[in-house]
Formats: sequence, structure tokens, C-alpha cells
Amino acid sequence: MDDLLGMGAEATVRKITFAAHPAVSKIRPVKTYRHPVLDQKLRSRRTATEARCMERALKAGVCAPAVLRVDKKENCEIIMEYIAGQTVRAFLHRYCPLADPALGPGPTEDEPGDEGIEGEQEEEHEEEHHVSEVQLEAPASAAAAAAAATATAVPAPGAALPPAVFLSGDLPLKERMDEAARKIGGTIARLHNAGICHGDLTTSNMMFRDDSADLVLIDFGLAFMSSSAEDKAVDLYVLERALLATHPNSKALFDGIMENYARTSTKGEEILARLVKVRARGRKKSMAG
Ligand SMILES: Nc1ncnc2c1ncn2[C@@H]1O[C@H](COP(=O)(O)OP(=O)(O)O)[C@@H](O)[C@H]1O
Ligand SMILES: [Mg+2]
Repeated sequence: MDDLLGMGAEATVRKITFAAHPAVSKIRPVKTYRHPVLDQKLRSRRTATEARCMERALKAGVCAPAVLRVDKKENCEIIMEYIAGQTVRAFLHRYCPLADPALGPGPTEDEPGDEGIEGEQEEEHEEEHHVSEVQLEAPASAAAAAAAATATAVPAPGAALPPAVFLSGDLPLKERMDEAARKIGGTIARLHNAGICHGDLTTSNMMFRDDSADLVLIDFGLAFMSSSAEDKAVDLYVLERALLATHPNSKALFDGIMENYARTSTKGEEILARLVKVRARGRKKSMAG
């Protein structure tokens, strides 16, 4: 079985076993079109920067895969912790394929009408299967019924949702999206507070862990250290564009992410003011073609 997880322009990502544990290997292969000396230098530097940013993020209390081994010389490889979870992209497709959280329930609330989303079908089939299994599993006794009800009960507003409720429980779409916005906005703010810009904040580069539902940032391939409000605003702009491109009606989710970002960020006001300028610049650029 090929455990290829991704093959981008820069790196090949595979699931492997390392020290008897599931792990991920990310290798930057040789680019023959570059001068060999320059190629080695670039691959080596990028591998080192990626690993350093991941380690700094972890130290700052931001969830990222633990770095297990870095080879900056030969293979330009990072071996990291394997995150058992789902990407935020898969999560959003599952719960609100084309629905705006502000407009009410998405198709999954009644019918899974989310066919035609590239690359996600298999995952969704699995989820559907899982849901029907859960539904078929009727509680054997009143005690079991009560336990099941507690496991999926919606907690008081403001309280964090239990992981199972957030990931797969019966929950109004708005509450699920509010919690997602809290996790995403808070995590990015903590990353920025530590002086790290991710550089590629897309929904495929964020995962929810299966066990804790913690948000884990992955793919630090374009990450860098910076204290500038401009760099952080650009990071947020990349997320906004990615979110709106892959989840067309997700403006309410993005607004929620920004609200939570502002609450946790040490320079929220300045960075969000900057985002307005970055956005205007982006619009001008796209109008000019
Ligand atoms: N540590 C990890 N644990 C589990 N899955 C991962 C991990 N790192 C990457 N992946 C999966 O592999 C995909 C590609 O990895 P990524 O680092 O984003 O590389 P790239 O986008 O450059 O191909 C991710 O979208 C994710 O689904
Ligand atoms: Mg990626």
C-alpha cells in the first residue's frame, strides 16, 4: 500500500513508521532544473526553516506535529508526528458543503447533497457509513441511553464543546462553526503572537485531531519569523482567499475567525486594520488582471 499523503511542487509527504510509531516523512526532492549547488542550498535552508518554525510553534503552545528528526543534508527530510485527524477542508465539506453558517443548516442537516467535491468523496462515504452505524446502534438500556445523551448534549454557550460532539455529534451548524472559528482564530493569533507567520494558511494545512479535536497547524514549508503587522495581515488574507475559494459561502466563518483572532492577538487592532489595506490592494491587483 502506498502511503503517499501529498506530492506538491516542493515536497513529497508520506506516512511511515518511525521508532515503531506512525509518523510522516516530508522530503524535498532534488530539482534537476536548478544548479546542483544552489538546489542543495535551497532545499537544505527550507527544510531547516520549516523544522525550526514547527518547533517554535510547539514551544509557543500552538499545536503542530512534533518534529522527530531533521536531515538538512542528504535527503532534506523532516520526520514528524503523524496526526490522526481530518483536515479542516474535509470537515467543512462534510458539514457545510456550500452553506453559509449565517444562513442556517447546510445540506448534511437533512440530505448529504455534497457530491462533486473533488477528492473528498471517499472520505465522505466513510463518514456517511459511520453516521448510519451510529444511528443503527440503539442503546440497550435506559442507562446507556442516558450516557449517550450526555455524550452528545450541547453544553452551555461559551463552554468548549466535548471533542466527540464537535467532530461528529448532533449539533446545529452555527454552533459547530462558532467552535471551529474559536479554535482557528485563537490558534493563528497564538502563532502570530510568537512572531511566526505560517505563509500558507489554507484549510488543507490545518487538521482537527480525532481524539481531542485540537486544531493542529501543518505544512510550515513557507513559514517564517516576523514581527510585522503587514506579514501577519497577509497571512490572514491568504486564509480568507483560500476559505472563500474552497468554501464559497464561508464569509461568516471567516468573520468568526477574525473575531476570535482579535480577542487573542496582542496586536489585533493593528493587524486587522492592515488586513483591510492588504485586501484593497489584492482587489486592485485582480482588477488589473
Ligand atoms: N503530520 C501529519 N499528520 C497527518 N497528515 C499529514 C501530516 N502532514 C501532512 N499531512 C497530510 O498530507 C497533506 C500534504 O502535506 P503538506 O505538508 O501540506 O505538504 P504539501 O501541501 O506541500 O504537499 C496534508 O494536507 C495532510 O492531509
Ligand atoms: Mg499543504
